[in-house]
Amino acid sequence: MPASVVLGAQWGDEGKGKLVDRLAESATWVARFQGGNNAGHTVVIGDRVLKFHLLPSGITREECGLVLGDGMVIDPWVLDRELSDWVEGGGTDPTGSRLFISNRAHIILPFHTYVDGLDKKIGTTGRGIGPTYADKINRIGLRFADLNYCNTDEMAARQNTVLESVGCTQRVSSDELREQIDWVINRFSSAITDTGILLDNALKLGEHIILEGAQGCLLDIDQGTFPYVTSSVTSRANSTHGAGLHPGHVENVIGITKAYITRVGHGYMPTELFDEVGDHLGTVGHEFGTTTGRKRRCGWFDAVVMRHANRINGFTEIALTKLDVLGGLDEIKICVGYRMNGHEINEMPASAIALEDCEPIYVTMPGFPLLSVEEWLGIAKKCNTEGIGFQGLPFAAQNYINKLEALLGVPITSVGVGPDRDATIDRV
Ligand code: GDP
Ligand code: IMO
Ligand code: MG
Repeated sequence: MPASVVLGAQWGDEGKGKLVDRLAESATWVARFQGGNNAGHTVVIGDRVLKFHLLPSGITREECGLVLGDGMVIDPWVLDRELSDWVEGGGTDPTGSRLFISNRAHIILPFHTYVDGLDKKIGTTGRGIGPTYADKINRIGLRFADLNYCNTDEMAARQNTVLESVGCTQRVSSDELREQIDWVINRFSSAITDTGILLDNALKLGEHIILEGAQGCLLDIDQGTFPYVTSSVTSRANSTHGAGLHPGHVENVIGITKAYITRVGHGYMPTELFDEVGDHLGTVGHEFGTTTGRKRRCGWFDAVVMRHANRINGFTEIALTKLDVLGGLDEIKICVGYRMNGHEINEMPASAIALEDCEPIYVTMPGFPLLSVEEWLGIAKKCNTEGIGFQGLPFAAQNYINKLEALLGVPITSVGVGPDRDATIDRV
């Protein structure tokens, strides 16, 4: 069976965790391939709310193997805490039995978080992601494969020079680094392996692999709204590369988008709302960051963003999430293009400064009623058990889905109407 890829199509937090948890029911492996614990992926199962930062969201399915892939940056202490939380919640520690860490992945050390903590410009998550990728590109980073060969004297001297130059008061010592490295080896050596080979073998056996993206297309280092982006390649092209596989394995690429849009951190968002509609989306959608708890900025759905994301990723299907959150609005707007310096444009400008000159052009659709979480869950269950797909949704909601589909030219195959695992309607 080929691999499936799940990718955020906006500025992150589209609902990747929820989708991967559902798809993992029929998968053998779920692999992360980029990013680190800047990600926060939520899975809601009844009254259990699970938040994953490094662990692939397929951990909820006992039969599913888990990979932290080559292209990731991994903070081993965060991973350890996340595993402890999992065990405290009644799970079994999967380290080395069903959780494997790529020996090519880079390690986030305390030094990286100290430097990231100084960021004021981008609004990063402060988790050390950018500084760790910077060390990778500078070819001085530490990978799991190289733990036994690290010259801690050299590393401490270099890190202290950087800390001093950026005005950070913290310092590291060679002994401390040695202790930290020994701890990582002891804690995780049973799981550190060549995960690309593991996944390749699984594909040869006909097993199904899900490649779980983190962040989203507009946060991509090359294709996003630079410099207000993360430091990794979030796209389909990197999903296999970052997992140690070739792209030919991928058959379906699921782009996830909210029925509106959100962003956390700095950088312009053309359809951002500063009125009561923005408040409605933030309140009803509980739009607070899963990793940092920061308030997410909310706006109308932006088809220019989606057009861009689709060109980069070639989505074979779209999962639309949080449709329920639009309930209760009299009318719903969709941005179909931008007006920039008197001209209409249909594509994202490359410059974040030019983007600030873009004013959205909207079409307006009728709204649908505000329903409770239980009512939406009831609709989802009815639609799925009766096999009526989207036809069980309010008529105006169906119209909205049809309009988005026509604008994107990609089939919408599922619609989320609540946080719960079961609050998703599959297309029939
Ligand atoms: P991810 O980073 O893409 O995995 O998304 P996050 O977990 O950071 O943010 C998505 C949030 O929306 C989480 O709180 C989810 O529980 C919630 N969510 C996901 N799908 C839906 C949906 O269809 N409706 C509602 N109301 N909430 C949803
Ligand atoms: P998931 O996987 C939303 C944002 C940060 C900041 C920028 C750079 O949950 O969708 P970084 O710490 O990566 O250097 O921060 O990227 N960001 C995210 N926003 N969801 C995420 O992940 C994000 N990961 C990073 O807020 O603007
Ligand atoms: Mg998130």
